[in-house]
Amino acid sequence: MSVIAVYSMKGGVGKSCSAVNLAWNSAVGSSRRTLLWDLDPQGAASYILRGDQVIKDRARAMVAGNVKPDKLISPTGIENLDLLAADVSLRGLDRLFFQISKKRHLGKLLKQIGKEYDRIILDCPPGLTETSEQILRNVDIVVVPVIPSPLSERALTDVQMFLDSSGKKHAPLLPVYTMVDRRRSIHKQGLASNPKWPVIPMSSAVEHMTKLQEPVGSFAPHGPAARAYARIWRGIEKRLTKK
Ligand SMILES: Nc1ncnc2c1ncn2[C@@H]1O[C@H](COP(=O)(O)OP(=O)(O)OP(=O)(O)O)[C@@H](O)[C@H]1O
Ligand SMILES: [Mg+2]
Repeated sequence: MSVIAVYSMKGGVGKSCSAVNLAWNSAVGSSRRTLLWDLDPQGAASYILRGDQVIKDRARAMVAGNVKPDKLISPTGIENLDLLAADVSLRGLDRLFFQISKKRHLGKLLKQIGKEYDRIILDCPPGLTETSEQILRNVDIVVVPVIPSPLSERALTDVQMFLDSSGKKHAPLLPVYTMVDRRRSIHKQGLASNPKWPVIPMSSAVEHMTKLQEPVGSFAPHGPAARAYARIWRGIEKRLTKK
């Protein structure tokens, strides 16, 4: 079992859309038993996967150990893909991790939940908080969506420096350019300075995900966005199987 977090300190960079599309590729493209665990109280990934009505106010209690994970996990209707949905109780997650004060708490939970799965994808809230620290220290790969702009790239450097400064082990960060419009000079400059980073184009299909409540692979499988996510997922699988 491997855990892939989709994380960025910055908000609105495409984390939730990426998490859903990568989870779809894991489940459908790679036939892996996959769980998407939504850790963001906004619940965007849960909404897209139509799971936001299933549970109310128990997501934090599950992390605290007061509710069994299998009580909250539900199938999505997509083969091999289950959802551990978010709700607003997760707004108290930072305080909970702070109170528990065990750096491996999330790691232990993931191990327990992971008995039923090959891949767990985490959709993370923005910020550099107690929750982010737990995530960054307890997963196998961190996918970091970056909109080509100096501010986004700076957020990535800050997280990298934060992790390196502690001297402790952490998962590798995999930056991915998102919402790329190659006609814009600032995007072209970004891509030129990091030519090896994967690219997800600005795409109306990704925008439609929130209206249709489906991953792009389900309704526009041959479009540029679906192909980009599929390519990124294949790269992640390659790294995980090499480990
Ligand atoms: N490749 C893309 N092309 C066009 N629109 C996109 C793309 N990726 C994301 N978006 C849009 O950008 C907005 C933010 O995306 P998303 O919710 O995935 O970001 P986020 O990083 O999870 O945000 P938050 O920090 O609030 O959780 C959404 O409206 C989404 O539809
Ligand atoms: Mg999000």
